[in-house]
Amino acid sequence: MCALPPGFISTRDVLDERLTGPDVRRLELAHGNEELLYGLDVLGLAGPFSRVTPWELEDERGVRRINASGYAAMPFGEMPPAITAFMQEFLQKNRAMSLPQQSSGPWRAALQANLVRLLARELPSHAQSQVFFCSSGTEAIEGALKFAKAWRPRAKFQISFASGYHGKTLGSLSLTPNPEYQDIFRPLIPGALTSPYGDLDALAALIRRVGPDNVTCVVVEPIQGEGGVNIPPPGFLRGLGELCRRHGIPVIADEIQTGLGRTGHWFESAAQGLDPDIITLAKPLGGGMTAVGATIVRAPIYKKMLGGLSSKRHSNTFGGGALAMAVGLKSLEYLLEHNLPERSRTLGAQGLARLQAVQRRFPGLLEDVRGQGLLLAMQFRPMLGVPLPGALKEILFEATAILALRELHGAGVMANLSLSSKRTVRLTPALDMPQDVFVTLMDRVEAFAQTHPHARDLLLKTPPQVTARLASFAARSPKKRTPSDG
Ligand SMILES: Cc1ncc(COP(=O)(O)O)c(C=O)c1O
Repeated sequence: MCALPPGFISTRDVLDERLTGPDVRRLELAHGNEELLYGLDVLGLAGPFSRVTPWELEDERGVRRINASGYAAMPFGEMPPAITAFMQEFLQKNRAMSLPQQSSGPWRAALQANLVRLLARELPSHAQSQVFFCSSGTEAIEGALKFAKAWRPRAKFQISFASGYHGKTLGSLSLTPNPEYQDIFRPLIPGALTSPYGDLDALAALIRRVGPDNVTCVVVEPIQGEGGVNIPPPGFLRGLGELCRRHGIPVIADEIQTGLGRTGHWFESAAQGLDPDIITLAKPLGGGMTAVGATIVRAPIYKKMLGGLSSKRHSNTFGGGALAMAVGLKSLEYLLEHNLPERSRTLGAQGLARLQAVQRRFPGLLEDVRGQGLLLAMQFRPMLGVPLPGALKEILFEATAILALRELHGAGVMANLSLSSKRTVRLTPALDMPQDVFVTLMDRVEAFAQTHPHARDLLLKTPPQVTARLASFAARSPKKRTPSDG
């Protein structure tokens, strides 16, 4: 065996933690998404962070924080023992082919069957549904859009909702109506239309205007995650389902963030009375350890796109791979055995009650709090009430959640931004976070609010040199900004 050529980094170097924090940041800045890392670095959020327990991370100085971030993709926290122990066993015992693209495979077979069984418990009409696996949420949406298009090839329009988020590949991006992410990529796929979220009459009017036969599909998040945790009014999803069924329009429920327990239900769409034709899943299905996406489709729609010799019409290399499927199977098993949707519901209710109490005490800091299950949101007030010139105002709006994230970090809480809501920070803790850790998490959020009773404190507590660097970073950033949301 030869030594690695000079300058190469070995697996040992990483495993034995010989790369220091500054080394990691330097390499990331040099060869990765430099601007993003730079912005995080200015805020002191760039890490790298290391696992202490599944629910706690520490930085290179040994400062520990409770992890309520992970964008809803960490259902059992960091390196959860139940999943890692299973992975070790898998590595020792598994003999199934790793990437069974052109053959059957036991892990894929088992996960397909279990997912359909799980769905059919809630929605019996899905008992014969079929699954297509991939490796991310956006890819699951791409598959869903293709299934819908193949089902209604002459239809020209796809409808999604304002503030929705479905991913950033070109198809899913077309249905993610956010100018910051879309604008320089125009023209996107033709025929993407946006309807206001939660407004059934507006959806009906839009469908009428373009003609029901011209609508390929309606894509909806049962609760909008990246839009800042927007819960639709009661009856919206049920009505949407009835409207689309009347016209034969397939409904795609994007459960990538809400599904598998995050919002307190296995499938939020089913809980709200919607029986979609296609359901997308991803984030938690990989147990926080692997990348698994799934598109679950009613059998006739599945067969229309992937029938006969056309069964290769949609494919990928890694979807259905043994390790990913095995971890997916184990994750589902763990969710079922511990009834984590139920736990998410009860813990989430406690969390929301705590947030509501904090908002009542500190209305100058928090404009609103929302949530269901362990998908919790804090919407901050604008940091300055005085009129500012346009660009500066935009930067300040945009900076609100970013500075809140920084200050929460200082209080020992890791939280999420919301990709399509500039003043909303979300908490998405592990569904199996122990009660005492969860209480400490909420205590820290309250302590943070106590030290920042007004939104302007987010700015005042930030050292001026950080604010200055952030402002110059924002000014030199070439991106197009979204209109502020408040
Ligand atoms: C509802 C929803 N759909 C799709 C996606 C895209 O998933 P991914 O980031 O895995 O591509 C996300 C990611 O946040 C999401 O929340």
